[in-house]
Amino acid sequence: MEAKFEADAEDVEFESATFKESAKRSQAVWQDLPKNPGKYRVLTGERPTGPLHIGHLFGTVANRVRIQELGATTFIVIADYQVLTDRDTAEAVGANVREVILDYLASGLDPENGRTFFFSHSHIPELNQLLLPFMSLVTTAELDRNPTVKEEIRAAGLRQVNALMYTYPIHQAADILFCKGNVVPVGRDQLPHLELTRKIARRFNERFAPKEPVFPVPDALLSELPVVLGTDGQKMSKSRGNTIMLKMSADETAKAIKGAKTDADRNIAYDPQHRPEVANLLRLIGICSGETPEAVAARIGDGGGGKLKATLTEALNAYLAPLRERRARYAGEPAYVSSVLKKGVERARAEGVVTLRQVRRAMNMDHGLD
Ligand code: TRP
Repeated sequence: MEAKFEADAEDVEFESATFKESAKRSQAVWQDLPKNPGKYRVLTGERPTGPLHIGHLFGTVANRVRIQELGATTFIVIADYQVLTDRDTAEAVGANVREVILDYLASGLDPENGRTFFFSHSHIPELNQLLLPFMSLVTTAELDRNPTVKEEIRAAGLRQVNALMYTYPIHQAADILFCKGNVVPVGRDQLPHLELTRKIARRFNERFAPKEPVFPVPDALLSELPVVLGTDGQKMSKSRGNTIMLKMSADETAKAIKGAKTDADRNIAYDPQHRPEVANLLRLIGICSGETPEAVAARIGDGGGGKLKATLTEALNAYLAPLRERRARYAGEPAYVSSVLKKGVERARAEGVVTLRQVRRAMNMDHGLD
């Protein structure tokens, strides 16, 4: 297989066209969700590659909590198999799964409401089995074209691409469709995967179940998420060491902020274009205090980077204090954390068993046994 990993003009065109279409449908879902939450089954998730940081918290996780509060059923996949797309070791996966569950619980995702479920790939055989029929619905050319996979291969600096990296977008379709997810809150980078999921759902229904469609064709749920950069003004990522994690203590947070990059101009103003690092810190304070970044800047005035950082430290630690308290409490209850995952897995499997039976029947593979 000779894959090319550079984005080309066709990719860009595809991306902007699908983005517009997806944005339109997403808007319609946002309008209808509060009125008819029972219609929506949300599936989203992430790879357990480390504890969550404030970029996750203020972005995707806050969004999930919001959707949960609207009353939709939410399935969250902790995508443990997907971790192995760009690394050879599963050493940290077990610990990371627990960290991520603690972060979810601390952030207000609430498995006690009977509508929110966490589960891992590794425990849902029915989900994983869907990969096989789904693989028959996708061409290798379609896999070669996926811009997100290309970007991930580039970002990870992989010289060899394993078959899981190549095929995981199909597996991600199985994540969404095994439980009949019809809404997927995702960032723009995940849209190619969602487009593939929509194709797989349509093709399955057309090819195998024309009279009685098995799968919904899910919509992306896009939202304006705040831009949260790392303490160095670059993309927040663990490998850069520029993150502020939920699990950090107040002191560790203060230390991370102390090391944050600012600039020489003592007069603090909100100028995202020319002063991105300062602008990032101002936005973070604004998220915590409910002010606009401009108002925060006016308050700090010519106090310089020192006052900016002190203000952020105070605001962020105050904001995170109740979350951290909850997190510490749950960290002291490992049996409870296991029971949350167990309940999520049980519910997810129950969904998967029903779906797989429908899939076998549609494909003439029930053989009189189901
Ligand atoms: N690939 C996603 C990410 O890197 C994580 C993910 C796995 C996911 N399965 C999913 C997201 C299903 C949405 C739906 O963020």
